[in-house]
Amino acid sequence: MTRRAVPLGTGHYLPARIVPNAEFERSLDTSDEWIRTRSGIERRRFAAEGETTSHMAAQAARAALEHAGIGADAIDGIIVATSTPDLTFPSVATMVQSDLGMTHGFGFDVQAVCAGFVYALATANAMIVSGQAERLLVIGAETFSRIMDWSDRSTCVLFGDGAGALVLGSEAGTGTNADRGILSVDLNSDGRYRDMLYVDGGVSTTGAAGKLRMQGNALFRQAIEKLAATAETALGKIGLSGPDVDWIVPHQANIRIIQGTARKLGLPMERVVVTVQDHGNTSAASIPLALSVAVTDGRIKRGDLVLSEAIGGGLAWGAVVLRW
Ligand code: ACO
Repeated sequence: MTRRAVPLGTGHYLPARIVPNAEFERSLDTSDEWIRTRSGIERRRFAAEGETTSHMAAQAARAALEHAGIGADAIDGIIVATSTPDLTFPSVATMVQSDLGMTHGFGFDVQAVCAGFVYALATANAMIVSGQAERLLVIGAETFSRIMDWSDRSTCVLFGDGAGALVLGSEAGTGTNADRGILSVDLNSDGRYRDMLYVDGGVSTTGAAGKLRMQGNALFRQAIEKLAATAETALGKIGLSGPDVDWIVPHQANIRIIQGTARKLGLPMERVVVTVQDHGNTSAASIPLALSVAVTDGRIKRGDLVLSEAIGGGLAWGAVVLRW
């Protein structure tokens, strides 16, 4: 018998304020056309004043619990992937825990920037497979609007806010790739690239949160190659390859990166879940948001093989293969 971490439910939350590309034309030397053609983004959501990462995370968690048909009392722990926590500490996860009325279990945050949700899933999978937990809430939640330099047109038009959540449970599998649940994970990082994407502040340096800085073009050149390689590695570990995948649910940074990676994996765009046009890049929230959208609208069905891949600051990147 092989223990598998299986999906029980998913949910998401988006702030109410929708910001179309045209809004940036008022304050920056940019255009809707440039943003659309270079990134695929048409609009994004920005959190309202006072709307925090933990608030959005808790809303997404509630939706996922409802979809799973269980209460917070049935959850053993909460893992939140975020790079934009409410406070330096305590963790967003503990804030969600109290928001959900949980006085049992554990909560902690994982920080791997845009790859954060893949890292959080890998962590949750290890805890479930090892028998340390039965049911976990895995959340990606971000308020990247709070770390934007609004005078930098090369970054501030690309990011958005939101949260997505996935409830994982434990189920007996056969040990083959026909099982439901998380089947394979591949994680990577290379700190030599840390200057490619970073936030220029922090507790032990400036004492302030700082603003996001990115060498977009250099990162773009790294992204497709590294994403395709980690996806192939994760699939190869379980004897599968690109064409076996029913749905890619990729990190949503740029439509050209999404298309290039799908092409390298030999998959048509009809089998890729794309939300970048509506959400922008929501960093660690982008995969669970896209997953929740595609599960809710009925595209992803029980038994489908789902591949998620992501790359972000670090650089940190990785992939996870799961059967829904
Ligand atoms: N409006 C108009 N022009 C712009 C804008 C803008 N908003 N932003 C940049 N430009 C200009 C640049 O100044 C440059 O002008 P120049 O040629 O006169 O110098 C020109 O457009 C081209 O700039 P590039 O950076 O070469 O454009 P590129 O085609 O590479 O697209 C983009 C930029 C969209 C950022 C792309 O490189 C990208 O998506 N990179 C990867 C982003 C990513 O994957 N990040 C990882 C995840 S994020 C995370 O981990 C937090």
